[in-house]
Parts: sequence; C-alpha cells; structure tokens
Amino acid sequence: MKIKGNLFFSGDKSLSHRAAIIAGLAWGKSLIRNYLPGGDTLNTLGLFEKLGCRVERDGTTVRMDSPGVENWNTEPGTADLGNSGTIARLALGFLAGKKGLTITLTGDQSLSKRPMGRILRPMISAGAEYSYKGETDRLPVVIHGKKLLPIFHKEDLGSAQVKSALIFAALVSQTPLQMEEAKLSRDHTENMLSGAGVQIDIHKLDSGRLLEMEPPFTVNPIEYDIWGDISSAAFFIVLGLLMKKGELLIRDVLLNPFRTRFLDVLQKMGARMEIMEKELRGGEKGCDLLVLPSELKGYKISPAEIPSVIDELPILTIAGIFCEGEFCFRGAKELRVKESDRIDALVKNLRALGMEVEEYDDGLSFQGNPERILAGSIESFHDHRIVMSFEIARIISSQNSCKGPDSLDAILNDTEFRIAGQEWTTTSFPDFYDKIRNVLDFTEKA
Ligand code: S3P
Repeated sequence: MKIKGNLFFSGDKSLSHRAAIIAGLAWGKSLIRNYLPGGDTLNTLGLFEKLGCRVERDGTTVRMDSPGVENWNTEPGTADLGNSGTIARLALGFLAGKKGLTITLTGDQSLSKRPMGRILRPMISAGAEYSYKGETDRLPVVIHGKKLLPIFHKEDLGSAQVKSALIFAALVSQTPLQMEEAKLSRDHTENMLSGAGVQIDIHKLDSGRLLEMEPPFTVNPIEYDIWGDISSAAFFIVLGLLMKKGELLIRDVLLNPFRTRFLDVLQKMGARMEIMEKELRGGEKGCDLLVLPSELKGYKISPAEIPSVIDELPILTIAGIFCEGEFCFRGAKELRVKESDRIDALVKNLRALGMEVEEYDDGLSFQGNPERILAGSIESFHDHRIVMSFEIARIISSQNSCKGPDSLDAILNDTEFRIAGQEWTTTSFPDFYDKIRNVLDFTEKA
C-alpha cells in the first residue's frame, strides 16, 4: 500500500462561515467560490435565507444577494444550526445587534450542551437581550435584537469565536467596539473584513492587541475564492507522514499562522514536508504542501501552543500513537467543550484500542510506537474530528500488520478494528472517504 496523488480541499470551514456572514451583512450580490458544502456551513447559508437573503448554490459556488442588514426579515422564526458551534456563537453576537429582530436559535444534542455564556456575557453588558427555552447560557436561545451600546471587552479565553461575534455585532448595530485580546486567536474575521472595506484598527500591546472600530460601517459585497480547509488537510498530512511509501501533494490550502501551528508541531516531531507559499486571496494566504513519509518522534505540546492547534489535537494524537517516545499535551481544557469532550473521547478510544493512557483534566499522555497494531471498537461521540482521526489510525495500523491490506474495503470492513458513526464526517468534510479512496494505492504491497 502506498500514498499518491494531488489533493484539493473544499473551502476552509472558518473562512466559509465568515464569507457567508460578510455577504449577508453587505447590501447586494456576493460571489463565493470553493464554499464548504458541509453540514455546518450549509446551516449558515440557511440562516441567511431566513433573514431574507437570496442564496443560490451550485456545488461549492455560492451566490448571495442580501437586502442589507437594514432590510433583514425581523420575524424569521427558528433557525436550527445543527452541530455548528461557530455559527451558533457568531450569530448570538451579530443577530442580537439587529434592532427589532426576534429569532430562536436551536442546535443538535451536542450543540445544546456547549457553553454560550462566553458570548452572552459581553453582549449583555452591551445591552443585548436573550431569553432561554431550557438552561441558561445554552441553546435554545431566543434573541431579542436591540441597538447595542458601545462594546468594551477583554478577551482572555483566546477565542476567535468570541472576538468575531463581537466584531460582527458592532457592525450590525453600528456601534463602536474596543476589545483587548489578551491571548491571540485566529484572525480571519479581521483579514476578511478588510477585503470587504471594513477598517479595524489594531494596536500592539505589551501582551496581546487592542482592536478598535468606530461607526459608521459599510460592508461591501465580496467576491472570494476560499482556500482549501487546512484542518481537513491535517488528516491527510498525518496520513502522508505515517505511510511508509509514496508522497502526497496538497494543493491550494490556507496558510495562516494561527492555523498552521500544527505543521510546526509535526516538524518538531520530525515530519518531512515542503511548503510552497502562494499569493493573498480575500486577505488570506495559501500554499501547496508536499508531504513525505517520515519517522516521527515524541513531543510534548505546551499550553502556549494549544490555542493555535486546538482543532488538530485529535489528529496530532494519532500521529503520537505511531511516534517513537512520549506524546503529551497539556493546557487544553477547552478541548472538553468542543463538539464532544475530546479529551474524554480520545482517552476512551485509545484505551478501547488497548493503549495505556494517562488522562489529565487538561490533556493526556502516552508512549508512542511506530510499529503499533491496534484492535478494538471506536465510538464517534458524535464528533466528526474524532471519527476521521481514528480512521487515519486504522489505515496506519493495517499498514503495520504483517500481510498488509489489499484494498480500502478490507480496512473499512475490518472486524478487529471497528469505527462507529462514519456519517459524522459530513459535518465538516463530506468527501473524506472519497479522498481516502483517491490517495491510497494497493497495487504494491507494503
Ligand atoms: C473557530 C474558532 C475555534 C475553533 C473552531 C472554529 C472559528 O474556536 O475551535 O472550530 O472559526 O472562529 P474558539 O475560537 O472558541 O477557540
């Protein structure tokens, strides 16, 4: 078995959500190419349709014609945001800034358990009004839109969702914003808004940054070509590194320092990769990436590195299973409130595969082994990144088995190593299995 080929990925999830929001905030026609057609980002389009935007989607091309915030439908009823924490949190911000709007936001079981107080507290300080159909600070939430007071906030969670919710709320409500970012987080909202004509003044502080915005704001319609999703590419990067033969070229993926820190971690583990930078598109840089088989060694991911690798911790853990030495991460309590409690999901699944794992309240550690062969039953915890991570582990484990697999179906139907809930991959990566099929070549035995 070897890995081969060239892969393009659908648009980055964070960028796709933001492109749709910016198009909906603008007045007029926007065009977004390479939009992610995953469950989460389709829910974002659905929300803007309810607000009165005309949305046409042809595969990954989205045309949105927005009547502008002034003319949004103020009685849209209920919007179901499914599994997506990002659109739920961003919408709890910007919808609360639209005077006269009443909307109920709901989500699936996992989303209804996720904490929303981090957005609601600073919004309520700026005069926003919410009521709850169940538990306080959890969905379903009814938003009673208001013209907001100036927004002042110190963001010390390192959350791009909180930062972006407040920025978009200021835009919708035409209110000033001053936000101190004590811990830096992904900066897509700032980058992409600059492409839509919105100026955010950014001042460096001794620790962190100060963001300032002063109305009036005009958001211009956009024409964006979205870079491939680097967090989806991460599954294939780790696969390419752990395969013993072949090479993989990943084309046109996002290259943003807040998102590619996991590449630095992998390089510190001994990964062999070549990164070829490309031009800016819509305020964001991209790259092509060549991934070569590598012998990985152990690594301890420090708390300081966590915010920039938060979404890749599950797949980095899989790289750790097959490294030489100890793999560990700490300072990642936030991982407990993602689509699942990802520390619990990782630990339970690794133990189900027979591994000895130390669990901490903020991380985990274990000894890696490049030749490890795993067997057991994996639970999905209704979490797309957990399923995809263990699918990569299953492929590498089968490569390590003495006879090696002769087809992908032999791996996927392995009765010794089972994975439940493969349908969850569609949340962020609808063609995950097609891509796996495209890059694995069984004409040669390992
Ligand atoms: C996201 C920010 C991150 C990340 C999430 C997407 C975004 O969450 O985990 O998957 O698009 O802003 P936090 O900002 O809450 O850390």
